Amino acid sequence: MTPHRLENHCESVSLLHYKSQRKEFEVHLICLRLRDFRNYKKLDIELRPGFHLLTGNNAQGKTNFLEAIYLLASLKSFRGVGGAHMIQHGQSGLFVGGSLQSTEIHQVQYYWSSRQRKLSVDGNPVRHVTEYLGRFPMVVFCSEDLLLVRGASRIRRRYLDFLLAQTDRLYLPLLQRYSRTLRARNALLKRPGSDPDILNSFTRELITAGEQLVCHRRKLAPRISVLARLAHRRISDRAEELKIEYSSSIKEDFETELARTAAREKILGYTLIGPHRDELKFFLDEHAAADFGSEGQKRTIAIALKMAQAEYLSGVCDTAPILLIDDVMGELDEKRRAGFLPLLNRVRRAGSQVFMTCTEDNWPSELSEYMLKWQVNDGHLVEAS
Ligand SMILES: Nc1ncnc2c1ncn2[C@@H]1O[C@H](COP(=O)(O)OP(=O)(O)OP(=O)(O)O)[C@@H](O)[C@H]1O
Ligand SMILES: [Mg+2]
Repeated sequence: MTPHRLENHCESVSLLHYKSQRKEFEVHLICLRLRDFRNYKKLDIELRPGFHLLTGNNAQGKTNFLEAIYLLASLKSFRGVGGAHMIQHGQSGLFVGGSLQSTEIHQVQYYWSSRQRKLSVDGNPVRHVTEYLGRFPMVVFCSEDLLLVRGASRIRRRYLDFLLAQTDRLYLPLLQRYSRTLRARNALLKRPGSDPDILNSFTRELITAGEQLVCHRRKLAPRISVLARLAHRRISDRAEELKIEYSSSIKEDFETELARTAAREKILGYTLIGPHRDELKFFLDEHAAADFGSEGQKRTIAIALKMAQAEYLSGVCDTAPILLIDDVMGELDEKRRAGFLPLLNRVRRAGSQVFMTCTEDNWPSELSEYMLKWQVNDGHLVEAS
């Protein structure tokens, strides 16, 4: 497919999805049930829409609580660990369940053990995660976000992929198709004397899926760039402009460039170009933030990226995502917190939820008017007056 036709194809597919998803609805968690999840032996809790502030001393279960909510929506931890880490020490499996309001109210149940994984919605087993993911838009702000700026490029690709998967149901299967083909192709490249016809067929498949991935990412990047720049202006105490640039490893034509690298690929035993090598670059006044930015500047970019994610989801899904904010508010001074407040208020007004954790000495008191306060103590939550 020529780049122009491919572009049109992606546009029409995305547009169809966009239109079919355009319904106004509120997303929030009505209740949460945990069994043997980290330091929560048993928790049954009802939750209203709006702001929820979780305070408590260190190591009481504040982050674990956010992680459980995230697990329910995304089926994974935002701490980048597998299910085994989240099972309570000494137990064989964990359970996370809840009632979630989206277009309708749904009962979700998720059981995870090393032997078994069971997900059901309204009592019906979900066979493919792609049917489930993206139903409950959610954005998490946590200390690991700093890796978006100073970590490996795969973390930035994951940021784009996560956002595309949440807003376009065709994206995740496409990404899985590309990753499977890439693995198979790399295995062939490593094996001496492998059949060139088989390698060719994997190359064709890689090109088809890869071109579509790049097309989706190319469309998303400038939109995120604008939203992140605006967010950055609001929370930055300095005058620099944030610029985000999507840099694909494919410069012109995937097929031609793969043909050009074929000899080197055989020597090295892996695919040298493709969306798996793409990069997202951040600049502050034209200087690469990863190389020249201070810790504080990198942290501000990371928060701006997450704010952009929330704004983008709000725009595309016609609903405000649930926000999980782990210890981030406490890090911001008053001015920068003020830049964060419009987003939080919009989420609250849209009938969604914000869950924020902090310790007693750094909680954002300017939000107290609407706040529901919970005291977290050794795996228990008590509503604080
Ligand atoms: N799999 C597990 N089984 C049992 N306990 C666990 C498990 N994983 C973590 N914990 C414990 O859960 C406790 C609470 O952890 P969490 O990260 O939620 O603390 P926190 O309240 O966010 O603290 P901080 O203010 O320091 O961030 C810790 O004591 C930790 O050791
Ligand atoms: Mg914590």
